[in-house]
Amino acid sequence: MTELDLLQKLADAYGPSGHEDEVRNLLMEVLKGHVDDMQVDPLGNLLVYKKGRSGDGSRVMFAAHMDEIGVIVVDIDEKGFLRLQPVGGVNPLVLLGQRVQFPGGIVGSIGVEPVEDPKEIKFPKLFADIGAKSKEQAEKAVGYGTMGVFYAAFQERDGIASGKAMDDRSGCAILAQALLEMKDVGNEVVAVFTVQEEVGLRGARTAAFGVDPQVGFAIDVTATGDTPKAQPMAVSLGKGTAIKMKDQSLVTPPFIRDLMVERAEKRGIPYQLEVLGYGGTDAGAIHLTRAGVPSGVVSLPTRYLHTPAEMIALADLRASIELVKALAEEPILLPSRV
Ligand code: CO
Ligand code: ZN
Repeated sequence: MTELDLLQKLADAYGPSGHEDEVRNLLMEVLKGHVDDMQVDPLGNLLVYKKGRSGDGSRVMFAAHMDEIGVIVVDIDEKGFLRLQPVGGVNPLVLLGQRVQFPGGIVGSIGVEPVEDPKEIKFPKLFADIGAKSKEQAEKAVGYGTMGVFYAAFQERDGIASGKAMDDRSGCAILAQALLEMKDVGNEVVAVFTVQEEVGLRGARTAAFGVDPQVGFAIDVTATGDTPKAQPMAVSLGKGTAIKMKDQSLVTPPFIRDLMVERAEKRGIPYQLEVLGYGGTDAGAIHLTRAGVPSGVVSLPTRYLHTPAEMIALADLRASIELVKALAEEPILLPSRV
């Protein structure tokens, strides 16, 4: 399977927070026979082990989250219209004119009550219409608490891919592909495909406690500053993987930044330095585990985050795979603090 096929399969899968089974099964199928061991922990994180050669490397945890943002059914009215709340960071304006998919191939169109001012468009004004003729029919098809995700076709042309859930199925594709390709691994690698990142980095928190790593890296999407009148940000689509310096959840330690930059330069991997003014990644949870875990983030520049039209460049995907391999393969020697 090419990395493009892998990305498409992962992006098309249904997997809102806490319902990552389809994504996890896909990853297990792809990785089976290519890694030393796989485990699913109590919350549903998939832990994948690459033992590597014995030596002086570190226990390194990589994390990419399997879940995607979505909506949850909170009420169904007499006519069968579904009322929704967000699961993760969903802007109600982004839902306008969209469809959402529920399990079982059920697709709903998003409608909105008449409003005087677009500012009034909040979740209580929205509903999903699955074509049900009654409350009973709707309840049978989609029960209370069922989650829906964006319904959007994956598309790729000239190395640019777009669709739903690039956040963070592209990170899952990067980590899985890196696991398939990495050789002569000089660290003890534990790759974790995490659950429930979009609702608060929950899977990464418990996984990191269990793994007890010496160093951690999240692999996740980041924004870009290269669209019309975008907020100032020195990250562009297609200019390489991004090495995070800071977001709202993490300040990357300078020695982690230097390590990432050195390895990118040594292998000729195109990279950019990233400062994101908002948001966070699994590294935000990992680095606060136990007595603390120095952590960094391999970021994938992505436009139109948290919409059904998230856009990435395959060249950046490849650069990110190469950086993950570089971090896993060469032993990471932690500086002594004493
Ligand atoms: Co996200
Ligand atoms: Zn993400």
